[in-house]
Amino acid sequence: MRTQVAIIGGGPSGLLLSQLLHQKGIDTVVLERKTKDYVLGRIRAGILETGFVDLMREAGVSDRMDKECFVHDGTVISFGDTEFSINFKDLTGSHVVVYGQTEVTRDLYDAREAMDGKIVFNTDNVTIHGADTDTPFVTYTTDGAEHRIDCDYIAGCDGFHGVSRQTIPLTVRREYEKLYPFGWLGVLSETPPVHEELIYACSDRGFALCSMRNENLSRYYIQCSLSDSPEDWTDAAFWTELKRRIPAKYAEKLVTGPSIEKSIAPLRSFVTEPMRWGRLFLCGDAAHIVPPTGAKGLNTAASDIHYLYNGLVQFYEEADREGIDRYSEKALARIWKAERFSWSTTNLLHRFPYQNEFDLKMQRADIDFLRDNREAQSVFAQNYVGLPY
Ligand code: APR
Ligand code: PHB
Repeated sequence: MRTQVAIIGGGPSGLLLSQLLHQKGIDTVVLERKTKDYVLGRIRAGILETGFVDLMREAGVSDRMDKECFVHDGTVISFGDTEFSINFKDLTGSHVVVYGQTEVTRDLYDAREAMDGKIVFNTDNVTIHGADTDTPFVTYTTDGAEHRIDCDYIAGCDGFHGVSRQTIPLTVRREYEKLYPFGWLGVLSETPPVHEELIYACSDRGFALCSMRNENLSRYYIQCSLSDSPEDWTDAAFWTELKRRIPAKYAEKLVTGPSIEKSIAPLRSFVTEPMRWGRLFLCGDAAHIVPPTGAKGLNTAASDIHYLYNGLVQFYEEADREGIDRYSEKALARIWKAERFSWSTTNLLHRFPYQNEFDLKMQRADIDFLRDNREAQSVFAQNYVGLPY
């Protein structure tokens, strides 16, 4: 088989790139290790920057999102005995959109299948060959048979545990990582959200987040120990702990219910440089990871796809390599700013095991300055709604 762009990974990054390129008549094949149902079974975040929304519109897959999403003009932040709102619309003129990543992925699969997009599921042993040559190809096995795809370019959209990043030699690759000493225990419940906006809370017991997917589907998180497992937490224990970490006026009206999903995610900051090696481009989680505090995971994948999509179109339509030659530079410039924001908000809103009384005073001073200073809130808001591509 031959294609123009071989895409490894059928998550949001790979599917969005495939759909965008298809619209421009550029042929792709998506190789996905799992089944479609498995991919759609993953519960991930739900905050979209307007840049992502624009990309979905450009890809022609925004109809359901436009009908079902919720525009959020701000967020609530509470810290100990203080609580305040940050008004994105007032400070930036922009907003974010609440629409689950699962729904984004579902819409992309529906569009790809409606256009007979080539997606191969259950691929094993995906291997990238000759990425540093002018004749790269990818091999993989399905149902015991080996297959080969010759291509012009390879997009590594296979997430943090994929093969693409590992294909770049360690003599070329530089990795930057920070691990956090806690995780997030997340619960999805078919209950009405406790508040119309998200609530980021930090109490002396740790971080909590109140979010949602729709008017009867809520998403909650509490900071937990890395030694915890979901089975250690009954629903009742989760709800009790959540109520102890959010302001009483919300805790009193919190509607609890059975968890329909319960999971723990570790928090990590990670970036690999460069995001290109020869004819291999890394996108999304394959190249970088952020702690979820800043809601940047999907949104950093979006800007990678924006840069790579436009660079590939520039190449195929104008024989101009400028966009793909500058892909890594452009993507990383925005990625590091998102990494900073995610790291900063994680430090601001979590309790760390080693904090002493001085550290706690510094954290509270940061919060008070954010509460009282419009310019500080403007910086927060600009980062949260998304810095320019
Ligand atoms: N071969 C083929 N497919 C693979 C391989 C492989 N060797 N390894 C991983 N994959 C697939 C995974 O099964 C997954 O469906 O690649 C896909 C990668 O998808 P994501 O991990 O969702 O990464 P990405 O598409 O970049 O989306 C980033 O997802 O993890 C969240 O918080 C993250 O919101 C962000 C978004
Ligand atoms: C979510 O709704 O899952 C969510 C929202 C905001 C975050 C992280 C996760 O910062």
